Formats: sequence, C-alpha cells, structure tokens
Amino acid sequence: MTYAIELRGIVKRFPGVLANDHIDLQVEKSEIRALVGENGAGKTTLMRILYGLYQPDEGEILLDGNKQVFHSPMDAIRTGLGMVHQHFMLFPSLSVSENIIFGSEITRAGFVDIENAHSRVQQLADQYGLRVDPKARVGSLPVGVRQRVEILKMLYREAQTLILDEPTAVLTPQERDGLFVILRELARQGRTIIFITHKLNEVMDISDNATVLRGGKVSGTLKTAETSPEEISRLMVGREVLFRIQKSETVIGEPVLGVKNLEVTNEAGRRLVKDVSLTVRQGEIVGIAGVAGNGQSELVEALTGLRTTDGGTIHIQGTDITHAPVDDRRRTGLTYIPEDRGHVGLATEASVSDNLIMGYHRDQPISRNLLLSNPSIRAFSQDLIDRFGIKISQIREKTANLSGGNLQKVVLARELAHNSALLIAEQPTRGVDVGSIEFIHQELLNYREAGKGILLISAELSEILALSDRILVMYEGEIVGELEPKEPETTEERLGLYMAGAIRDQAVPAV
Ligand SMILES: Nc1ncnc2c1ncn2[C@@H]1O[C@H](COP(=O)(O)OP(=O)(O)O)[C@@H](O)[C@H]1O
Ligand SMILES: [Mg+2]
Repeated sequence: MTYAIELRGIVKRFPGVLANDHIDLQVEKSEIRALVGENGAGKTTLMRILYGLYQPDEGEILLDGNKQVFHSPMDAIRTGLGMVHQHFMLFPSLSVSENIIFGSEITRAGFVDIENAHSRVQQLADQYGLRVDPKARVGSLPVGVRQRVEILKMLYREAQTLILDEPTAVLTPQERDGLFVILRELARQGRTIIFITHKLNEVMDISDNATVLRGGKVSGTLKTAETSPEEISRLMVGREVLFRIQKSETVIGEPVLGVKNLEVTNEAGRRLVKDVSLTVRQGEIVGIAGVAGNGQSELVEALTGLRTTDGGTIHIQGTDITHAPVDDRRRTGLTYIPEDRGHVGLATEASVSDNLIMGYHRDQPISRNLLLSNPSIRAFSQDLIDRFGIKISQIREKTANLSGGNLQKVVLARELAHNSALLIAEQPTRGVDVGSIEFIHQELLNYREAGKGILLISAELSEILALSDRILVMYEGEIVGELEPKEPETTEERLGLYMAGAIRDQAVPAV
C-alpha cells in the first residue's frame, strides 16, 4: 500500500528536548487525519518537518511512495503540500489577492497583473465556497476570514495536502463549523488533510482517524468512528481521565463583586470596555465568554487594579475599590488567577515554596512580628503541595522547572488558600494537561460551594458551560448577552452568535 503521506522514524532534537522520538505516520489520500496531543507533545514540530521548515535529525518522508528531501517550504510546496500555521502569516497592509498570489505572482511584462489576480482569486473562492472579497485589505478582516485567505492561498498553489495547525483556536463555533464543511468538501475532492488540535470534540467531529502524540512519541492511532473522547484522552495523558465533575446546588448570597457602568479607554482614546455592569454573588460562578480581544483582558485588568478606569465603579463586598491599589483590593477580598502565569502569576526564578507563600508574608503564622517563620513556611507549603498534587522533588525546587499544569496548580493553590470572597479566574486551564483540567474545575466548584463568588473568563466554551451559573458574553467591549447555562437553548452555537455580534439582548439587565 502506498500512502499519500508517510513519515518513517522521524527524530527531532532541540537543546534539552527530544521533540519527536522515532515517529511513524501513514495517511491515505482523501483522508482527514487529526493529530492530537497536549501542549509540547511534538505536533507542530512534526508538521514543520513535513513542510520543510525543519530538517529531521533522523527519518524519512515519502509522498505517494516517493522519498523526499525538503530543504525549505518551497520544496514542500512544489510537491503539493500546504500549511496554515497557528499564527497566520499574512501581510495586513496588502489585499486578499496580493496575499494569495504572493510568491507566485501572475505577471504581465514584469508587473503584477492585479486585475487578473482579483478575478482568479474570485473564481477560486466561488469554486470552493470560501466567501471573501479579493480586493479587501487583509488587516481589516476578521480572523475567520483571514483563515479563509490562508486556505485559498494553499488552493491557489494547488496544494494536494493541507496541514492546519490548531485552526479553530481563534474561531467562533459558527466559523469552526464553516471551516469543517470546507475541509470535508476538500477531502471529498481527493485532498488529504492533517488537522492539529487538542480539542477532543473536534477530533470526534472532523477526523477519519486520529494519531495521538505524547512526549514526542506516537501513543496510538485510532479510527475515529470506533473510539471515544475517553480513549483519546487516556492516550494523550497516559492514564485514565474522568470527565465527571460534581456540580451541586449552592445558596446564592450577597454580592461580592459589583461593577457599574465601567469604562476603560486606551491611550489612543479607543473604548475597550464600554458601560459594563455586572454582579457576582456568594456561591456562584459568573462566566464571561467572548472571542479573544473583545475587552475581556482589559476588564480583568481594571478589576484587579492593573489598569486605570475612565468611568463607573467597582465594589468588592460593598467597599468601593474603583481607584484602590492592588494590595487594598486583595485585603478587601479579591484573589486572582492571571492568564499570564509566567509574568504576572509567579516568580519563576524563586522556589515553589517562596511562590506559595507570596502574599502571605504579613499573616500569622507565617509571619510573627514581621519575622518569617521557616517551619511554618514549610508546613504551609507542604500542605498545599499535597492537597493540590503538585509534582516536585523538593519544596525549594526552582519554579521555572515545573510543567504547565504544575505551574498552574501552584498559582491556584496559593490563590485559593486565601479564602477570599471573590476569585477572578482568567483562562484557568490554558496550556494545562487534560488530567489537571479536571482537577482545577473541581477546585473551582468547591470554592463556589464554600460560598465564594467566582468571575471566570475563558475562551473555552465547554469550560464556561460546564462551570458557570450565569454566562455573560462580551463583544467589542460590551456585554451583549446574559444566558442561563441550565436552559436547553444555551448551546455553544447560541453563544457563538453573541460572540460574533450577530445577536444581542435587547436590554441587558444592569445588575
Ligand atoms: N524551535 C524550537 N527550539 C527549541 N525547542 C522547541 C522548538 N520548537 C519546539 N520545541 C520544543 O519541542 C517540544 C515539542 O513542541 P511542539 O512541537 O511545539 O509541541 P505541540 O505543537 O504539540 O504543542 C516542546 O518541548 C517545545 O518546547
Ligand atoms: Mg503546536
């Protein structure tokens, strides 16, 4: 049997990391293959090797049974390979057509014939149902459309094999469904598709087969129709993962966070947060959904005191902290799990126990008469390490050595131990392994059951839906909708319509 794509024994080493460890991969023509694995499993590296961006240290590439050596992506493109990278590589100031023909220009007497290019691109777009205006400037297009431009660029070069690296990360559910329709059609016409993702529902939805990578090795290849999310995640993590979290009824109490008519404007005078009002009460999780870049980060920065506000008020447990410094907010009852753990959340050069006691220096029994007590620090840290299952060799271990999931557990352990009335959790499971996600979700629910209020900001709709008691959707700096996860009509699709600005509530209740 000859395969459209065959990788044999691919090895790739980076300083200190074996990114690909003797990987074999066989993909048939017209197949949609999911390449699955956690952060750092080696997916992108493997595909960059196939695309000629990296040279393998060992192993070989065969296309339709013929051995290939790619010195650069140009070699790979010539044989019919195309790749859409995780971060798009388009020129924002150029038009759609210019971007598509870049590198393979249609020229007339040495000049780019732009009118001809526009019509060729239009033809191609019509043929594949990839709606896009050839003359539009790429910088003015939403990400979903930019992705279509990347796909058109591959088709323009007559790519037979399309590699997409985590293509849905920036899409709304509707845009994702649209992409899947296009990919299925392309496969039906005989193209081979390799689709990188770490989302199990996408694997189940789009792929014919799934190859799972773990720690640079293939841990299994499965027929999608004969497998389950549980089996795939077991191969991803290397152990059983339960998807069951216990969410029980809580008593909703007093407001712990009250935001009224909040305004945040940037240096250039653009309104990033517009007239936002919301309340978080004891015993509830309020989720904020939205496509990244719609004001969520700025809202969180305003609430945590990392950014000044330009209007409105913020109350924590009834105390006005609108203009209070970060320390005061913490003392009033705020604790915060930041998105950017490396910079905001942790001192990576310090030890795990130093990180765990950060923010507790003034408290008994860690500190007595402003002297730090070593035995208390040890006991306090060890307690959190045990409870949260943080994997380290010793509590003085440098935090920088920890994996993503363990780093997040350190931040989570420290912040939850404050027992503050209000927790702001920003992307709490981003970059975390599947096994740790389950644990973190359960900890957040326990915190809620203990009568605390949580404001959850997440780009993962499944996380928002699973944890929230109420969901608010942000679009272009505004809260455009409030939804009850318990209602059957609250689906990822419906959230997607709000996230894309396609619908909005008539009058969103102010409080
Ligand atoms: N250019 C590089 N230089 C050094 N290390 C790298 C480079 N690219 C990837 N790595 C490392 O190789 C491993 C696999 O990374 P990657 O292929 O990006 O994984 P994935 O795409 O599955 O998240 C990781 O440990 C990563 O840090
Ligand atoms: Mg990757």
